[in-house]
Amino acid sequence: MDCTVVLITGCSSGIGLHLALRLASDPSRSFKVYATLRDLRAQGPLWEAARARGCPPGSLETLQMDVRDADSVAAARTRVTEGRVDVLVCNAGRGLLGPLEVLTAGAVASVLDVNVAGTVRTLQAFLPDMKRRRSGRILVTGSMGGLMGLPFNTVYCASKFAIEGLCESLAVLLQPFGVHVSLIECGPVHTAFQEKLEGGPGGQLDGADAETRELFSRYLRHCEQVYCEAAQDPEEVAEVFLTALRAPRPALRYFSTERFLPLAQLRLSDPSGCSYVAAMHSAVFADEPAEDPDGPGRRPEPEKWGGPELGAPPAAPQ
Ligand SMILES: NC(=O)c1ccc[n+]([C@@H]2O[C@H](COP(=O)([O-])OP(=O)(O)OC[C@H]3O[C@@H](n4cnc5c(N)ncnc54)[C@H](OP(=O)(O)O)[C@@H]3O)[C@@H](O)[C@H]2O)c1
Repeated sequence: MDCTVVLITGCSSGIGLHLALRLASDPSRSFKVYATLRDLRAQGPLWEAARARGCPPGSLETLQMDVRDADSVAAARTRVTEGRVDVLVCNAGRGLLGPLEVLTAGAVASVLDVNVAGTVRTLQAFLPDMKRRRSGRILVTGSMGGLMGLPFNTVYCASKFAIEGLCESLAVLLQPFGVHVSLIECGPVHTAFQEKLEGGPGGQLDGADAETRELFSRYLRHCEQVYCEAAQDPEEVAEVFLTALRAPRPALRYFSTERFLPLAQLRLSDPSGCSYVAAMHSAVFADEPAEDPDGPGRRPEPEKWGGPELGAPPAAPQ
């Protein structure tokens, strides 16, 4: 039987690296994994882990692929010796954190280029062949930050919201082509993501006013708490990709954790957005509740959006 050819972007660390290993070392030996990296000089940890996991020879190959560069994406495609990709995983991404007004134009452009245009470039390179063959699966690393706005993650959330629209639109079109698109919506995951934030954590904070700087400090404390309590291991998240990959009729969305779903649902249950904004504000900046323009009657009760357990630290970046 032919193996399933999988190509993954962003495999130097984190979710991409762990997914590549998980598939290449699968006991079925049915996957051929092309783990792609922006910079092949960063492939050491992947191969080290592959040796430790006993990935069989030929199950894993690395390719250079920078999603910001269409030529690099096209070149990677031509190096897939099987001549086809059965499963494309658009995973490469970069975070950007800090008050909007201090983010540099370069950092904003770079994150949108990687997260949005980079995903578009990758899809444009691989989708036509899948459509022609009337078969294929596309898995995209989504984020709860693509389903709800998170303070100080403005541009990152904008990029992940864009990914939602991109994938949902494609999913509607692709039904008759036998090509399935699934978003793997992740909450916080223990990866190098925080260390690789574009421009470092927070940017040039001096450019922000004192009150915003104080709120940013509070946000960082909140994040730390959320990470301690809720961050998942990338191995756990890789299993969610496997679920999507194996589903006979894949769903558009899979969630690595259900912890943040009540907040996402709050956005839908009150389309005005007031309930979500108030709930998220008080969750993050707990000791300074959001002003409620409609008076206390409109403020959502914690139990309505997930109860006290969620009311503690519901949201993290990413
Ligand atoms: N960690 C979380 O809490 C979390 C939560 C929700 C969603 N996510 C999403 O998960 C995905 C993977 O992130 P991660 O958590 O695994 O963090 P990570 O360890 O930082 O991995 C990100 C990967 O993307 C790669 N990348 C960045 N720019 C690229 C480019 N121009 N071309 C190709 N690859 C590029 C990075 O490569 P370099 O090392 O070369 O930069 C790295 O391999 C991202 O899309 C992120 O938005 C993460």
